[in-house]
Amino acid sequence: MKNIVVLVSGGGTNLQALIDAEKSGIIKNGKITCVISSNPEAYALKRAELNGIETAVIRRRDYERFEDYDRSLTELINSKSADLVVLAGFMTILGHEVISAFENRIINIHPALIPSFCGEGFYGLHVHEAALKKGVKVSGATAHFVNEIWDGGPIIIQKAVEVKYGDTPEVLQKRIMEEAEWKILPEAVSLFCQDKIKVIDNIAVISE
Ligand code: GRF
Repeated sequence: MKNIVVLVSGGGTNLQALIDAEKSGIIKNGKITCVISSNPEAYALKRAELNGIETAVIRRRDYERFEDYDRSLTELINSKSADLVVLAGFMTILGHEVISAFENRIINIHPALIPSFCGEGFYGLHVHEAALKKGVKVSGATAHFVNEIWDGGPIIIQKAVEVKYGDTPEVLQKRIMEEAEWKILPEAVSLFCQDKIKVIDNIAVISE
């Protein structure tokens, strides 16, 4: 059974999808053992508490130097014996130490089809605003491993979602969450926990 540590900052709907997927058996061979938040007010922490999951808070602003924050976050995750780290709306940049300590063991969910609408500045509603401005007819979500390139790690699963004329960023965000993010993030986590993902030359290869 693999230990999953989930990093959050906000509402935590993706965390909820993971909790529900663990309960219903969609996540095989994995257990969420701790939820770490960058924000003590995050509702995601409440979701964890309601489900009896241990929580911790680490704030970037409590550290003057980024390197010290990076080291503390790495130590905190290590202290929870994490096999897998999941970024479920974690709004703080990860540093070299944590990324190298968990190479191909950190999964992020991005609310667009990478390599579209990704990279620096593409977070939250900005992603959907850019997609609508471009007039794309499909967008979607991507579950991927995290490396030192922003949204540049190996892609594990993607799911397309229709963009409709008249969508607002909020409407599109909600449709992408419901139809894609909340499905593919637990699926990617389950594949990882069953050792079904191999990374070959920066490509994630999924075995049946
Ligand atoms: C999601 O849109 C996710 O794709 C992005 O951050 C948002 C988190 O939402 N990385 P929630 O906190 O899971 O509700």
